[in-house]
Amino acid sequence: MAFSDDFLDELTRRNDIVDVVGSYVPLTKRSGVNMFGLCPFHGEKTPSFSVNPERQIYHCFGCGKGGGVISFIMEIENLSYPDAVRFLAKRAGMEVPEDHYDPRQNRRSRMLALNQEAARFFHAQLMADTGRPGQDYVRRRGIVSMVKPFGLGFAPDSWQSLIDAMTAKGYTRQDLVEAGLARAGKNGSLYDYFRGRLMFPVIDVRGNVIGFSGRILSDGEPKYLNSPDTLVYSKSRSLFALNLAKKSKSGYILLAEGNIDVVSLHQAGFDSAVASLGTSLTADQARLLARYTSQVIIAYDADSAGRKAAQRAIGILQPLDLKIKVVEIPGAKDPDEFIQQKGPQAFRELIERSGGQVEYRLEQTAAGFDLNTDEGRVGFLKAAAKLIASLPGSVEREIYGMRAAEKAGVSRDAFLTEVERVRRQSAAAAKKRLDREQTAPLRAAQPKERTLRYDNVRSAVAEEGVLNLLCRFPEQFSDLALTGADFTSPALGRLYDAVAERVRQGRSVSLDVLGQTFSPEELTLLAGILQRDSVPAVAARQAMDDYINKIRTEKERQSRADDLRGYAEKLKRTKGYGS
Ligand code: UTP
Ligand code: MN
Repeated sequence: MAFSDDFLDELTRRNDIVDVVGSYVPLTKRSGVNMFGLCPFHGEKTPSFSVNPERQIYHCFGCGKGGGVISFIMEIENLSYPDAVRFLAKRAGMEVPEDHYDPRQNRRSRMLALNQEAARFFHAQLMADTGRPGQDYVRRRGIVSMVKPFGLGFAPDSWQSLIDAMTAKGYTRQDLVEAGLARAGKNGSLYDYFRGRLMFPVIDVRGNVIGFSGRILSDGEPKYLNSPDTLVYSKSRSLFALNLAKKSKSGYILLAEGNIDVVSLHQAGFDSAVASLGTSLTADQARLLARYTSQVIIAYDADSAGRKAAQRAIGILQPLDLKIKVVEIPGAKDPDEFIQQKGPQAFRELIERSGGQVEYRLEQTAAGFDLNTDEGRVGFLKAAAKLIASLPGSVEREIYGMRAAEKAGVSRDAFLTEVERVRRQSAAAAKKRLDREQTAPLRAAQPKERTLRYDNVRSAVAEEGVLNLLCRFPEQFSDLALTGADFTSPALGRLYDAVAERVRQGRSVSLDVLGQTFSPEELTLLAGILQRDSVPAVAARQAMDDYINKIRTEKERQSRADDLRGYAEKLKRTKGYGS
């Protein structure tokens, strides 16, 4: 069911992490043994992404992502563990012992295959005679030519048609439910989740069908039904039509709100349109965008909700160092309606005229105040100063400051003084935050991943220390009198047991082999721990003793506290309280 340790050790020997990562990320700096480059997983200007050739791990000091060469490939190529193994085997010209691994057993690839079949089914339904309601709708919306490129489909208005078609192909009820394509009713019988809807398959950048959105054909509710998040689908990390937009030569990505907008934009020749999937733009989606473009043009709906969403999206895109513009759509509710009424050329002109985000936000801010009153002007001034104070460049601050001052009818100097005041204030606040972080090292020691949070940070810090030393100096610690059960953090305890087992077998510690049994979040945690070099080899023994003592005393303290609590409860009960 799994790859053998021997095979994985050989695979990672033949895929040196520096070569593999180096082919995606220029590793331009060196510090000690580490090579550094710009992190491919979050936007940054100075390199905090490290690769450690000795330990064969990567770790980003900025976003915290980390792991071995296999997890790197999983992350950057968006592959499952077994697929990343195959990818690297191919790269190194190795045979994959498939007999150890049956791909049909893999729930992920099985779900992808089912989604693919379902997309084919929906598409065939749209093309069939019985697909008339869908065909009429597509014609009415004027998007007939996009049925093929988007793989649009029609879910018949019946309770079982998809279930029947997919079970005939050998998929089980459980497969259908897990993929979010069927639901169980009260009496336990299954029914199709999507019925009587125009179907938009959601396809990832590798061409996998990962989920669906279904639009109702009339005015009912809900207008859109979306696949739930599944093993292969995370709405907050996917973008509709990115599979098409990534091929665009336009030099920007158009970010719209609605699926129909995206389809309509593509039909009009704007082949870089995408939409977030029934959520407002998330940081993950923004990072995904940043991997494919350096300029985002927001084309949201023209209503107040759309404007608010645009402001939010700007806030999320800005830290990623993307060029951001906003298209305003006059006289129509959204890009689709605008194009249907005025044609592609008119929309192109809108794009060309679209303002930079600062102008846009300044306009939006001004619209919120009545500039004919003193009160309104003061309010606008304060808000605009905040906005302009957040701009990184002094030239930008000067230019937009002037514009804002004009709008509010105050002198340029008065306005810029206000901007400087805001800047000083936020600099002071930032410094305070930093100080607080540094005086509270224990809080900072928590893993980024919430599900891995430590209950007992004091002990967990020592547990991390044990893992660090064991991985770095395995020959010194091949027979520690400690087991994972002594740990307070379950994740660290399990990692410890796995590492200690490898050390006992005389194998090197490999995050890649551990990747088979541990989640990416757990590997990220371990990579971060391994990237600390605080204790030199000569002090390792002493440090290990200290860590183990710490773990033991914390354990005692904990059990005394538990005893005390137990005693108190008993006391309560015997005295008849607390019922
Ligand atoms: P819109 O209501 O603007 O839809 O919602 P639209 O795609 O522009 O469709 P038309 O032109 O009105 O027919 C924007 C997006 O919000 C999500 C969908 O992804 C939709 O495309 N949404 C909307 C939902 O997920 N559920 C809903 O009930 C409504
Ligand atoms: Mn819309």
